[in-house]
Amino acid sequence: MSSQILKRVRGFEAEAEKRIEKDERPAFHLSPRTGWMNDPNGFSYYKGEYHLFYQYHPYDTKWGPMHWGHAVSRDLIHWEYLPAALAPDEDFDRAGCFSGSALTLPDGRHLLMYTGVRRELQDNGEEREIQAQCLALGDGIEYEKYPGNPVLDERDLPDGASSFDFRDPKMWRKEDGTYACVAANRGEDGNGQLLLFSSLDGLVWRYEKVLYANDGRFGTMWECPDFFELDGKSVLLISPMEMLPKEMEYHNGNGTLCVTGSFDERTDTFREETDQAIDYGIEFYAPQTICAPDGRRIMIGWMQNWDTLIYSREQKWFGQMSIPRELSYHNGRLYQRPVRELDALRRNRVEYRGVPVSGEVRLDGIRGRRIDMELSVSPAEGEELYRKFAVRFAQNEAFHTAFSFRPAESVLKVDRKFSGTRKALIHQRRCRVSGKDGRLKLRLILDRFSVEAFINDGEQVMTATMYTTQEADGISFFADGKAVMDVVKYDLIT
Ligand code: FRU
Repeated sequence: MSSQILKRVRGFEAEAEKRIEKDERPAFHLSPRTGWMNDPNGFSYYKGEYHLFYQYHPYDTKWGPMHWGHAVSRDLIHWEYLPAALAPDEDFDRAGCFSGSALTLPDGRHLLMYTGVRRELQDNGEEREIQAQCLALGDGIEYEKYPGNPVLDERDLPDGASSFDFRDPKMWRKEDGTYACVAANRGEDGNGQLLLFSSLDGLVWRYEKVLYANDGRFGTMWECPDFFELDGKSVLLISPMEMLPKEMEYHNGNGTLCVTGSFDERTDTFREETDQAIDYGIEFYAPQTICAPDGRRIMIGWMQNWDTLIYSREQKWFGQMSIPRELSYHNGRLYQRPVRELDALRRNRVEYRGVPVSGEVRLDGIRGRRIDMELSVSPAEGEELYRKFAVRFAQNEAFHTAFSFRPAESVLKVDRKFSGTRKALIHQRRCRVSGKDGRLKLRLILDRFSVEAFINDGEQVMTATMYTTQEADGISFFADGKAVMDVVKYDLIT
């Protein structure tokens, strides 16, 4: 039985979505059915389809009381909206149904675990938000909140752990058929820590231990953890708040962090080996992964950053998901590539080989705002190393967004200063890429309001949104010095 609050939301979104034309949205990146979207939630494969829920405020294009929006897909590219799955309609989640995850129980029910937020008056008279973990069970469309909610609250926390910051549970099923979950928490020192919980049946949960703690190294509070095995490594994905920059690896503000290491199942001990950023661009946060039926580990993130909310007056929706990305681990790094299902959208192949670039170059047939374009750049033979190479897109006389590469420093920069934005926000990010010989491979995925650049076969990724008018669909190349380039470009047609 859905509540009046949920019924009202469902009626509202079904009407409101009619006011958004298809071409006012990204074509193959999921955007909210209406209103506001943040983190991906409950990413799972259930009854033959991928389910993706999301942090959702249908009534406004700004963040507000959180619901769970819901969409399904067979190929991770074409999404169909389902009615909102959760609304903040119970005492334990009245201030919001925050992020969480999903899995399938042996009896076929779809289990969601999310953070229920409620307001509570403190002894000092202050009203604070208390966060606790809650369950909902359903069939892929209708979800009933569990009568025993919340299933994890302040009583389950270790000493010093804050119940004001205790959220974003990510569950998984272990090989022995029992369940585990990690959740983000603020420890006694004010910094993030990941708590590990266990369950025999997915319904009754108990605290195990602190799996991994920040110790002041990566930002302050942490959000949206994920934990999984990948190519022989144990991988933690974390979204830290208030990062301090570290060389060119980490930037200020909300960031992304991947820590790899080993995990001893007997003692639940994680031993850290490496750390790196997940995405080096401007907008990417709170990613969540799934293990697909064919064994691929696929990650999707919120293609946004809390520090760079660019609103335009006309926009009827806010927030987009990234392209789902296949993960692998090799050469001591996390690699990402767009899911192979995207290849099925490729049309109108245009290819150029060995194009000399010196100054500005435009090529017939190379333009568009929904494209997949692979570039391979190298120095011209027998010439000095070029000083700079750039590719500009979403371009007309007034606007463009660009990636530029300085081979001597191995630095790649994304710059959307000229994308039409009127805000003094971060519009550039730099990233140090591998190789010093002037060779660079870039695969750019454009989808109306965003660009994702997969660098050197997915060794690094830079993602950014851009709300440039769609008429600006030009693409040009530039070199200071002499470079040579191969280009293959496809339109992506849904
Ligand atoms: C991350 C986050 C989560 C929280 C949700 C609230 O972007 O702050 O920690 O669950 O968003 O919408």
